[in-house]
Amino acid sequence: MVVGGQRGWDMGGEGEEESTVILKPPKKASILSRMIVLMFAMVCGVYVCVVCLKQIGTQSKINIEDIQLLKGPTSDPDPVQLKFPGDHYPSPKTFNRSECEHNPVRYFAILSMQRSGSGWFETLLNSHVNVSSNGEIFSVLDRRGNSSSIQEVLDKVYNLDWFTSASKNECSAAVGFKWMLNQGVMAHHKDVVDYFNRRNVSVIFLFRRNLLRRMVSVLANSYDRYAKLLNGTHKSHVHSDDEAKTLSKYKPTINSTLLVDDLKKVEMMAARAVEYFNSTRHMVLYYEDLVKNRTKLQDVQQFLRLPKMELTSRQVKIHKGPLSEFVENWEDVNTTLNGTEYESFLQSDY
Ligand SMILES: *[C@@H]1O[C@H](CO)[C@@H](O)[C@H](O)[C@H]1NC(C)=O
Ligand SMILES: *[C@@H]1O[C@H](CO)[C@@H](O)[C@H](O)[C@H]1NC(C)=O
Ligand SMILES: *[C@@H]1O[C@H](CO)[C@@H](O)[C@H](O)[C@H]1NC(C)=O
Ligand SMILES: *[C@@H]1O[C@H](CO)[C@@H](O)[C@H](O)[C@H]1NC(C)=O
Ligand SMILES: *[C@@H]1O[C@H](CO)[C@@H](O)[C@H](O)[C@H]1NC(C)=O
Ligand SMILES: *[C@@H]1O[C@H](CO)[C@@H](O)[C@H](O)[C@H]1NC(C)=O
Ligand SMILES: *[C@@H]1O[C@H](CO)[C@@H](O)[C@H](O)[C@H]1NC(C)=O
Ligand SMILES: *[C@@H]1O[C@H](CO)[C@@H](O)[C@H](O)[C@H]1NC(C)=O
Ligand SMILES: *[C@@H]1O[C@H](CO)[C@@H](O)[C@H](O)[C@H]1NC(C)=O
Ligand SMILES: *[C@@H]1O[C@H](CO)[C@@H](O)[C@H](O)[C@H]1NC(C)=O
Repeated sequence: MVVGGQRGWDMGGEGEEESTVILKPPKKASILSRMIVLMFAMVCGVYVCVVCLKQIGTQSKINIEDIQLLKGPTSDPDPVQLKFPGDHYPSPKTFNRSECEHNPVRYFAILSMQRSGSGWFETLLNSHVNVSSNGEIFSVLDRRGNSSSIQEVLDKVYNLDWFTSASKNECSAAVGFKWMLNQGVMAHHKDVVDYFNRRNVSVIFLFRRNLLRRMVSVLANSYDRYAKLLNGTHKSHVHSDDEAKTLSKYKPTINSTLLVDDLKKVEMMAARAVEYFNSTRHMVLYYEDLVKNRTKLQDVQQFLRLPKMELTSRQVKIHKGPLSEFVENWEDVNTTLNGTEYESFLQSDY
């Protein structure tokens, strides 16, 4: 920044020198005009500095060193935000809301990453008689190619005209879907935030704190995509202990050279997402907290202003117990993370 100001002054000086040669003005005037040019250059320098800082500021305020998102405690949802979920009375093109047409509908989106428990979380939500969470609808490339195709899909979902096995049709009191951050959310974040704010869509962030366990799950799941360990079929989620045991037999090898960088990238993406969507009505949930404390589900129901219900899921966790049993080169990973900020990932059980 200082360099910018300095250079401005130097160039101003040179220009002045030339013009004095040509015009030959009195010496006094020359000193005065030099002073003016100096002032001008300094003002310019300061202005350039401010503009630069502003641009850096709008890009991201997040420092890799001080991300606390995944490490910090759960912060309770902002009580002011809790108050106004926005009441909607959609009139779907394809059916009549009949008996429930006077019940308000809340719009939501679950923003998450692959293998962070969002599948499980969604089955819990959908066990509510009034919730339609329509799955990972933007996994289809065509639907997220540009902002307008994204908007078209969103319109359809929130107008209750999107049908999946999860749709509760007439009596939905909350409608939404889960959306992975790498499926167009980050790429089109400005337009998506505008849309969410315009239509009062509430955001539920769901993150996994232990990114090492997440990584193991990602690697194992992408292996199974080809290996199809369950009688020749690939399953991302299972409903029995036997199936879980079969899937967890595969032990991935983790590239320890890239490990810390990879974990950092994922953490950064989560932090950036929360920053981008800061202006929307939102809450942040952690998979580990949900596993430990089911009353967190009541916070979600309160956030969406739903009639309270006991939520259930038949899904079974695939990798249970210490992570060391599920990684081929565990010692290598242990040594790599020893003494880093991610050391705690080695121990925890979720
Ligand atoms: C969004 O919510 C605010 C506050 O409840 C309300 O004033 C506004 O009309 C709502 N907008 C829409 C499109 O529902
Ligand atoms: C929906 O119901 C209302 C009255 O309850 C009726 O007037 C309207 O024609 C119905 N619309 C459709 C598409 O069935
Ligand atoms: C957006 O994508 C859709 C389908 O992928 C395409 O039909 C449409 O022309 C695209 N619109 C713009 C503005 O690029
Ligand atoms: C929830 O669904 C039930 C059964 O379909 C319905 O009777 C009830 O009115 C719904 N509640 C809300 C708030 O929409
Ligand atoms: C796979 O096949 C075995 C026996 O052949 C059967 O017991 C088991 O239930 C099957 N599992 C699945 C996931 O279909
Ligand atoms: C890890 O990744 C780096 C960079 O892609 C690669 O050079 C290296 O060979 C990999 N190590 C192993 C053990 O696969
Ligand atoms: C979100 O905005 C609020 C107030 O505008 C600010 O206090 C908070 O630090 C912001 N959070 C993030 C993650 O940017
Ligand atoms: C469980 O979650 C609820 C709601 O967020 C909270 O009030 C309670 O303190 C939590 N209990 C434990 C043991 O963490
Ligand atoms: C972890 O680091 C400490 C010192 O930083 C060292 O004494 C210890 O042997 C290391 N453990 C492993 C498993 O590398
Ligand atoms: C990591 O390695 C050290 C030294 O071998 C061992 O004491 C520690 O239990 C290991 N940590 C885990 C989580 O396996």
